Amino acid sequence: MSASNLFKYVCLSLGLYLALNANIVHGSPTGAPRLACGDMTPQHGVDPQTSASPFVTTPSSTSITQGSTLTLTLAPVSSGAFRGFLVIAFDNANQAGGPIGTFSAISNGQTLDCPGVTTMNAATHTENSDKSSVTLNWTAPAGFAGTVLFKTTFVQDAATFWVATQSTLVTVA
Ligand SMILES: *[C@@H]1O[C@H](CO)[C@@H](O)[C@H](O)[C@H]1NC(C)=O
Repeated sequence: MSASNLFKYVCLSLGLYLALNANIVHGSPTGAPRLACGDMTPQHGVDPQTSASPFVTTPSSTSITQGSTLTLTLAPVSSGAFRGFLVIAFDNANQAGGPIGTFSAISNGQTLDCPGVTTMNAATHTENSDKSSVTLNWTAPAGFAGTVLFKTTFVQDAATFWVATQSTLVTVA
């Protein structure tokens, strides 16, 4: 086998191994793993949906004061249910800066510590029953003023999910 063919063989084998492994190990009935923090994509071994998401994340206010709390509702646009979710808040002007603020009071789920300056900076499910609505609170960081965007991945079932759907913007002033 030439070096280049050997390389291809190794890459293919590794790719196949990772794909199978991801499918088996990282289907996550008990919540998204920290691994999903970066691209918010479930490691289900299939591609995300590219259609408009049938689920939305709705903030209770369009404007809050620094350090205060709002409530988010995760729900279908019209009907249907989701089994899994991952929500993260970003400074809309600096999304690459990573998660901001903290989540609490999740009606059906748990916080997740994604890499970032605070803990509890993401929220995810704890079990994979059908959910028609989840509410959770998000508290803005003290001393942050700007515009916040919530991104939510909704998982309808293992093969059907929408990645990093965007909420309406919230002003923190
Ligand atoms: C959640 O946030 C709302 C404000 O949107 C507040 O009134 C409520 O007390 C909070 N719930 C908990 C359990 O902290």
